[in-house]
Amino acid sequence: AMICGTSGIGKSKLSQEFARSVNDDGRSIFLSGRFDRLESQPLHAISSAFDKYCAWVTMEDQSTAEKVSTALKENMGDEMACLVTVMPNLANILGDDFNFNQSSKNDDTAVDAQKRLRYLFCQFVDVISRCHEEPLILFLDDCQWIDNASVALLNQILMISGSAIKDHRFFFFGACRDDEMSESHPLNSMLTSMNCFGTKTTKIQLTSMSKGALNEMVSTELSLLPRITRSLANILHHKTKGSPLFVKQVMMELYKQRLLYPSLSRRRWVWETNKILDMKIPDNVATFITNTFDRLSFEVVSALVVLSCFGASADISLIEVLEREIQQPLIAPLDDAVAHSVLGKRNGKLYFMHDKLQEAAYSKMKPEERCLHHNRYGLALGFVAVRERDDRLLLTAV
Ligand SMILES: Nc1ncnc2c1ncn2[C@@H]1O[C@H](COP(=O)(O)OP(=O)(O)O)[C@@H](O)[C@H]1O
Ligand SMILES: [Mg+2]
Repeated sequence: AMICGTSGIGKSKLSQEFARSVNDDGRSIFLSGRFDRLESQPLHAISSAFDKYCAWVTMEDQSTAEKVSTALKENMGDEMACLVTVMPNLANILGDDFNFNQSSKNDDTAVDAQKRLRYLFCQFVDVISRCHEEPLILFLDDCQWIDNASVALLNQILMISGSAIKDHRFFFFGACRDDEMSESHPLNSMLTSMNCFGTKTTKIQLTSMSKGALNEMVSTELSLLPRITRSLANILHHKTKGSPLFVKQVMMELYKQRLLYPSLSRRRWVWETNKILDMKIPDNVATFITNTFDRLSFEVVSALVVLSCFGASADISLIEVLEREIQQPLIAPLDDAVAHSVLGKRNGKLYFMHDKLQEAAYSKMKPEERCLHHNRYGLALGFVAVRERDDRLLLTAV
């Protein structure tokens, strides 16, 4: 299935809620990855989803881990070592006695190596889908940015795993901004050819929220009865045309401007209806976000621009290295951006709260300047990577 809709309409949120519901009652094994416009490693979204599966299996009970390990070794043998390079956690399933050096067939051309990797991935999916009673669900977000290598791999997984799909052992669903994809987008061509070969796909089109749905959202956010929030929700619906991202951004702005605030005496959120009605708001969320950025300090915006060159998120340790190398304050201003809800901070990473925010930061650079920025940060990190023999950092630098 494909969940389609414009940016900010709620595709990722719907997928997260779905993942939560199937994970909570243990009805399936949910694997997810997302494409990033600036991701430099091909196949990263798909391999990271399966790598998370490998990490999960090793955390499960011993018998599950052993079952998966035995099935993989019996069906795939030494060839699997090749998959370890793209899924490092697979090594933990295979154990220390596995021969990890067998894989490199140096006479492979690049094309053969890619074909072999695709074939191994398909076998891997088939084998693991037989190891569990629960079906495997693979979710890939932001498929509008899928790369050609990933389309080829996904296509092969979905075609070859036909029997797993028919037996309800394996499901795939993706999310994409269909309004930003042309007819000839590689994903559209893939879906069309899959339909021709008889693999059924379902399209779920998300549209703007109705007044009622938006009121439910506002009522939940403010912990107030829907009849109390209806007046505010109606104004927000008029101003945002029902885009959830736009509603959230406007509500945050209302809070910052003290037009929406917690009242201690009334012990609830209150708002200034007339002032909100008079507020001038651009007719799209992108312009709204850009205008919000203009109210942040120069230092914060400059740091956001640097972060945006690394995609939707970056390791804090990487930003610390970069800060030292380019001698520009980054960590403190980015913390400020966290306080302004532009960024979030989790698991040692700084991430943009939404890809529209990353795009807004990235678009602060003129198109002709972007190369210079990438070059500067890449070189700075490259020097450190070579000096400290850090392969991962080198890959990011490249
Ligand atoms: N049904 C909903 N109820 C509450 N918040 C929502 C809902 N749908 C989306 N949001 C919020 O709106 C913002 C944009 O949603 P998101 O799923 O990231 O959009 P998309 O993936 O389509 O770009 C997020 O902050 C999300 O939490
Ligand atoms: Mg999304």
